[in-house]
Amino acid sequence: MAVNVIILAAGQGTRMYSSLPKVLHRLAGRPLLSHVIAKARQLNPKQIIVVYGHGGETVPKSIGAADVSWVQQEPQLGTGHAVAQALPYINKGTTSIILYGDVPLVKIETLEKLFMAATEGGVSLLTAKLSDPAGYGRIIRDSFGRVSRIVEDRDASAAQRDISEVNTGIIAVDTGYLEQLIPKLSSDNAQGEYYLTDIIENAVTEGRTAATVSVTNPTEVMGVNNREQLACLERIYQAQEAARLMQQGVSLSDPARFDLRGELETGQDVDIDINVILEGRVVLGNRVKIGPHCYIRDAVLGDDVEVFSNCVIEEATISAHARVGPFARIRPETRLEERVHIGNFVEIKKSTINKGSKINHLSYIGDTTVGKDVNIGAGTITCNYDGANKHHTIIEDNVFVGSDTQLVAPVRIGAGATIGAGTTVTRDVPPGELTVSRVPQKTRPGWKRPTKGKQD
Ligand code: UD1
Ligand code: CA
Repeated sequence: MAVNVIILAAGQGTRMYSSLPKVLHRLAGRPLLSHVIAKARQLNPKQIIVVYGHGGETVPKSIGAADVSWVQQEPQLGTGHAVAQALPYINKGTTSIILYGDVPLVKIETLEKLFMAATEGGVSLLTAKLSDPAGYGRIIRDSFGRVSRIVEDRDASAAQRDISEVNTGIIAVDTGYLEQLIPKLSSDNAQGEYYLTDIIENAVTEGRTAATVSVTNPTEVMGVNNREQLACLERIYQAQEAARLMQQGVSLSDPARFDLRGELETGQDVDIDINVILEGRVVLGNRVKIGPHCYIRDAVLGDDVEVFSNCVIEEATISAHARVGPFARIRPETRLEERVHIGNFVEIKKSTINKGSKINHLSYIGDTTVGKDVNIGAGTITCNYDGANKHHTIIEDNVFVGSDTQLVAPVRIGAGATIGAGTTVTRDVPPGELTVSRVPQKTRPGWKRPTKGKQD
């Protein structure tokens, strides 16, 4: 039978103490709700319906998933009421899986088990045994061990509160049957809400069986109610990603000090030192080495690239055998071709540096095309901005730029030219020649340093 997914995401998330709706808070760089939608997609559902409410239109706008149907729940009168809002839009003849927008780590295999259990029994619940079940709905079983109902924490007696088996909230149910059950819900309870969980008692009374699937690892069904729980889930998620990468052959100096906030594609024998953050889409070729304390976002690094400690690399392509850092900043739209060396305290923006060129110390290169085998000395600056517009600099092959040079753009340095140290280049430089602009050095013989006046 086909599956539909309903994601409940209308709740307020009061305990986040935030102006941002809870489901937009980020786990591994993406909103919680995006994680849940990604899980839903893996089930190949006919439909994904997200019930949103608190935070209004900012939720669908920030998520922007084209394959999702958005249904607003206003006011928010409980989980049963939330599902009722989705029902008019749902495909019949399916099994509905209900997920929570703030429970992001559930495993796809678990959901498949739950789905199978529902097609057999009509309704199935995902449960967990918790050493501290406080706050959760408890699973009440009859003398034969069959589920008879769910009691919410606030409606539970002292004896019921001792039950360690809890409702995770994730349910699979035949959609046609769900349509019959939802209108029968009432809000006659401690919270004055329409509890989705009450469908269980009604189903059992009508002679149906409520099957259960139990998770062995409760972290799968942990939800986010406050920022501490969010941070806790972040570490669990990162530990899982680190384990997965190491199993694929990536070396991590310390899996507890590695953060992946996006997608990573790796070749063989990639080596990542401590405190590295990878964001967006990052591709690391064979034998790439990343030193400690680096931040890399949306970048492609070719085979044998070495990034030394404390570098920031964003929206860049770095080709094979290039070396970057320590303490380098590679900004968007930069291409470093093969064997390029970028050293310490060098900033490169929107520039292409061709094969074998070296910029090793204390330089700013922006809006520039650098040819092959160019050597740029320490303290070279491209003056690319005149206060209103950005201008381009072209440095042709085999140029040698002496230290402390300013290149005032737009300007072109011809192939093989040498620029003397301390030069301010304001006009195009011919190829093959030495160009220098420098105040002649003077010595004043006999000159004495001033001394301090005597005090009385
Ligand atoms: C719910 C379950 C409880 C279970 C627990 C697991 C009910 C009545 N209780 O309780 O048995 O142990 O989850 O975490 O279902 N939501 C809406 N609209 C609403 C209310 C909630 O969309 O009107 C959404 C929330 O955004 C959230 C989810 O439903 O994603 C659960 O809501 P929450 O208020 O956290 O339910 P609990 O009281 O924790
Ligand atoms: Ca909750």
